[in-house]
Amino acid sequence: MNNFIFENKTKVFFGKGCVSEYLGCLSKKYQTIMLAYGGGSIKKNGIYDEIMAVLKSQEKKVIEFPNIIANPTYAKVMEGARLARENHVDMILAVGGGSVMDCCKAISLAACYDGDVWNDFWVYKGIIDFDVLPLGVIVTVTGTGSEMNGGAVITNEELKIKTGRDYPACNPAFALLDPTYTFTVSKRQMVSGGFDILSHIMETYFGEPNENNVSDDISIALMKNVIHNLEIALENPFDYNARSNLMWDAAMAENRIIKLGKNTDFEVHQMEHQLGAYTNCNHGEGLAVLHPTYYRHIYKYGLSKFKQFAIEVWQVNEAGKSDEEIALEGIDALEAFIKKMGLPTTLKQLGIQDDIDLKAIADSCNIIPTSYKPMTHEEILEIFKECWN
Ligand code: NZQ
Ligand code: ZN
Repeated sequence: MNNFIFENKTKVFFGKGCVSEYLGCLSKKYQTIMLAYGGGSIKKNGIYDEIMAVLKSQEKKVIEFPNIIANPTYAKVMEGARLARENHVDMILAVGGGSVMDCCKAISLAACYDGDVWNDFWVYKGIIDFDVLPLGVIVTVTGTGSEMNGGAVITNEELKIKTGRDYPACNPAFALLDPTYTFTVSKRQMVSGGFDILSHIMETYFGEPNENNVSDDISIALMKNVIHNLEIALENPFDYNARSNLMWDAAMAENRIIKLGKNTDFEVHQMEHQLGAYTNCNHGEGLAVLHPTYYRHIYKYGLSKFKQFAIEVWQVNEAGKSDEEIALEGIDALEAFIKKMGLPTTLKQLGIQDDIDLKAIADSCNIIPTSYKPMTHEEILEIFKECWN
């Protein structure tokens, strides 16, 4: 196992009713709260009213910042930072999924920094030696795990770059996770988020060291849990236990615990992010299209782990088969699961248009040096073409 330092400052409140029970206490010391949310789902399902009732009862000044759309943009971050400064906001409350949470982490930083935020913190890894605005999050859709890390994936529309950084200073101070808040998420988005969780775990699991280590053992348990509960939730979206498991799986996948002592991959995320920068495609769906093909390109370089994945996660019967055959059956099982969940399996199904410049997208992808087989831009283009239809 590699050396590591572990820190996670986010305090998590989990379970039905946690917002009305704890939000008042958590926001007590703040006067002006920026309430940030997406395109309006929280107004339809009653979450907005529940939160406002708590804030009003405490006579907070609430500055609303709505319309944070999927794949949040740098322009939206700067708009939020301006609003926060103008109104002397002393706490941000992000209500939504990864897009709202990521945008708000970036706002919490940008509102307290005078320089070039994009260049100093997203192009280059910056040093946060100043206080960012305190951030609390209320999760309404499960997937990214943004609630328990400092990661913020932002799209610079002008430059056509979608990129993320994880700054521990940007971890939310608190996260309220009520599984019932996710009941109204569409099946399509639920499955997309569920696959995002699985992808985060796979991208972490498929990395050195390959020998016995606790992080990988936790990952195997988590992958099995995601697969099992996503199947249950697809049958019955109101299954509280399945939704609870998925909600905690998402946080566990991205709260740094399974990354301890390990190299990680995340090349598929790099590829999907750039597809998103050019096409605004859905994050989890983009990952679903790319994963099996990417794994068929790299499995030989991490064969023992792909074999273990097949046997432990997908119960592939190993009798009479070579390691390669077992590994490939595991990837086939992953692909079959993607189809069963109704996720897209080709770039065409993802809605990518014929005139897209796949080479430009491939050339713009970051290369992860710790992958079992670090990609070249040419090989990424091959993968995109193989995923076409
Ligand atoms: O905008 P509203 O109207 O709220 O609708 C949203 C949105 O359309 C809807 N939704 C959310 N809660 C709902 C609901 N609909 C009904 N009922 C509810 N309770 O869900 C849609 C998708 O929301 P979004 O936040 O975009 O989804 P997700 O959580 O998948 O976030 C995706 C973003 O996070 C980034 C992705 O790249 C993408 O930009 N990621 C962030 C990561 C991180 N910070 O650690 C890691 C990930 O790998 C990922 O890159
Ligand atoms: Zn993801």
